[in-house]
This record gives sequence, structure tokens and C-alpha cells, in this order.
Amino acid sequence: MAHSDHEFGGISTDLKLSLVGGYLQQFTTALRPQFQQLWYIDAFAGTGERTVIIPGRAADMLGPEIDARVERRAGSAKIAIDVSPAFDKLVFMDKRPKHIAALNDLRAANQSRNISVVPGDANAEIMKLLGEQKSWAGTRAVMFLDPYGMSVDWRTLEAIRRTEAIDVWYLVSLSGLFRQATRDAEDLDPSKRAALTRMIGTADWENDWYEMKRRTNLFGDVDERLARTAEVDDMERYFGARLAKLFPAVLPPLRLNDDRGIPQFALFFAISNPKNVAIGLASRIAGHILKSGISSKVRP
Ligand SMILES: C[S@@+](CC[C@H](N)C(=O)[O-])C[C@H]1O[C@@H](n2cnc3c(N)ncnc32)[C@H](O)[C@@H]1O
Repeated sequence: MAHSDHEFGGISTDLKLSLVGGYLQQFTTALRPQFQQLWYIDAFAGTGERTVIIPGRAADMLGPEIDARVERRAGSAKIAIDVSPAFDKLVFMDKRPKHIAALNDLRAANQSRNISVVPGDANAEIMKLLGEQKSWAGTRAVMFLDPYGMSVDWRTLEAIRRTEAIDVWYLVSLSGLFRQATRDAEDLDPSKRAALTRMIGTADWENDWYEMKRRTNLFGDVDERLARTAEVDDMERYFGARLAKLFPAVLPPLRLNDDRGIPQFALFFAISNPKNVAIGLASRIAGHILKSGISSKVRP
């Protein structure tokens, strides 16, 4: 495999990328006349492409044998490079050296563009990048947070919010939340607790998601146990309410399931600029895009 090979995602990946790509396109179109600097920050950028393996098929009555084939499709970084009107600056972060090598190749193939490739942990590198920017006047940015799991720290979101200049697409890992928040509170070990608190930004989830429950075992003995009563919908709502407390505007998320229909992610859009005009414009564009995502999911 080449270092640009990056196989990930299920059926929801195309949808996620087409929604975020659609937003980027409309964002630069709407804001180009008003802002000198439009930035795209991809904190979990991957390689710029994704590799999709299309399975083959044995010969049958419907047709001859078809070989499996590998297809390369644009990932978020490449999609952002191709947006027109173009972004003035693109920042691609990733912690895997192999992915950084592929992103450097992408930068080399687009030498006329202002592209920074930043190796390292997204939380630390976002903090560094935002700290170096003394003023956001004249600059607006979109950030895409697309981790596999629960890698985005709450304090990173707080720093993004403080810029008042960055719109965020955040793919929140619901499966991460419901796996770490075990059904039985006895299975919550310190590392699970810490991961949840780091991501949610408060330790209150434990009180809010767990209740004492009576249980009868096979022999008819009754005991009481602390168990999680919050289901995935409650957790999604809870996280959405946390975001809504931090950001001036947050849109209702789009739920993304895996191929078996198990909830995996909620795609949230949050706006850090508190001005009504900025909220109005960004929510009109993103709201329309999120609704188109919902209708494309229900289409047979
Ligand atoms: C789902 S992939 C991103 C896919 C990309 N958005 C695309 O569309 O092509 C997640 C990426 O995050 C990277 N990653 C995981 N944890 C990270 C962290 N803490 N900091 C930076 N990158 C991280 C992984 O190496 C992987 O490339």
C-alpha cells in the first residue's frame, strides 16, 4: 500500500464528506467578498484521499465474474483544496507519520497554495495555532473535527469558541460515548471516566446518566446496582446541550449509523461568532445541508 492509502468509513462516509464539502463550497462563495482571509483547518486530516475496496462477484446467471477493485476517492483535505472560490490558507493536522507524508505530497502537488501540514496531536496543535493568531479581524475559518473516536478535548472546543471566527463541523463519536459509559457503573474504570470527562467537559455525566436499578438474578435474589439509564439518543442530546451552552449557535445534528444500523456518529455544526448576521448566514447554509443529508438518508 502507498502511504496515501487510507481505508476508512462505512456507508456514511460519502454522505459526511459530501455535506461538509457542500458547506465549504457555499462558505467561500458567500464570504469571499467580505473577508480577506478564509481558512480551512482539518485537525484530523487523514491522507487527503480514501481508499475504497469494491468487492468482486463470482460469475452467475446475472453476469460474468467481476474482480474486486480499489477506488481512490477524495478525502476532506483534497475536497477543501478543490473548493472554489479557493481558501486562502489550509491547515492539515494528523498524528500519524504515514498520513503526514501523504499530506506533504498533497502540498507538494499544490505549490501555488498556502498549505500547512502539521504533525502531532490535534488538541495541542489547535491550541498552538489559535494561540499564534493574535487577531481574527478580517479572517473567518471552518474547522473539521473528524476523529475516529473520542480524541477532541472539551478545552479545545473552548479555545475554538473564543476565536469568534471559526465554524466547526464535529463528528461526535456516539459509539465512543456508549462504549465508555458502560451499562454497569462497576465497569467504569478511571480511564473510561477520564476519557468521557475530557470529551464532555464535565464529570456531571455520571450523575446524569446513571440511576440505582433493582435487578433480580436467576435465583430470585434482588439487588440494587448503579446502571446507565441514558440511551444513545439521550447522550446525543446531552452532548448537543453541552455544545449549545458553549457556542452561540448549534444546529440539530445528523445521525450517522454503520452498515448494520448501529449509531456511530452525530455530525454537529457549531458557530463561534456571536453576531446575528454571522449566525444567520452560517445556519442557513449548514441547516439546508444537514436537512439534505437527512432526506438523502431516508431515500430508498
Ligand atoms: C477518520 S480519519 C480522517 C479522515 C479525513 N477527514 C478524510 O475525510 O479524509 C481520522 C484521522 O485522525 C488521525 N488522528 C487520530 N487521532 C488523532 C489525534 N489525537 N490528533 C491528530 N490526528 C489524529 C488519524 O491518523 C486519521 O488520519
